[in-house]
Amino acid sequence: MKRKLFVSAVLLSVLTACMSTSAPLGPDASAWADYRSWYKVTPEPETGDPTGFLSGVHDGSNAYRMIYVNSVGEAVNRGQQGFPYPEGTILLKESFNNEAALNADRNPDLTLMIKLAQGMSPATGDWEYIRPDGARGTGDSGLGAFCRDCHLFAAATDYNFINSRFYENNR
Ligand code: HEC
Repeated sequence: MKRKLFVSAVLLSVLTACMSTSAPLGPDASAWADYRSWYKVTPEPETGDPTGFLSGVHDGSNAYRMIYVNSVGEAVNRGQQGFPYPEGTILLKESFNNEAALNADRNPDLTLMIKLAQGMSPATGDWEYIRPDGARGTGDSGLGAFCRDCHLFAAATDYNFINSRFYENNR
């Protein structure tokens, strides 16, 4: 059992290492340093798989997740303005491994989507995707394609799963 875990950990790190990433196009981490003052999209930390599209990513269905949007994208997320999101929007997801980590506010993984200027990365809907280790994915990079291929299920809401429309449809 231990050996199996070790092998899958190695496999995962190999897969992660092989996935090509891209040079940053959007802002650096100072742009989301105060994300906890942003509009919190998830009224309560969400767990399980509310959309049905998670399939084990984002720390899996046991994780507790909170999503935030900066002021640039807030009106669209709250349904006060239509999609797509304006340039400069940042969607950020905090994932805690389990409830104990959530309660202790311990080591959340941060994944982000940053809306770039129109035409900067058509292959990803002009979103730059950022993994918890800081690696970025746009254009035809492996990481950009990995994130996009699943977020594509939310294409009608500009690749964004959780927003006021999601809550209206799932009341
Ligand atoms: C297999 C599907 C899948 C993949 C791959 C995936 N995501 Fe997600 N992502 C989701 C789902 C489903 C949600 C909705 C929230 C939840 O259930 O936690 C989500 C939510 C998000 C959010 C919050 C905004 C929103 O759409 O609700 C961000 C930011 C995000 N993902 C970033 C990323 C990044 C960066 C990558 C690539 C490293 C990635 N995602 C890869 C399924 C995926």
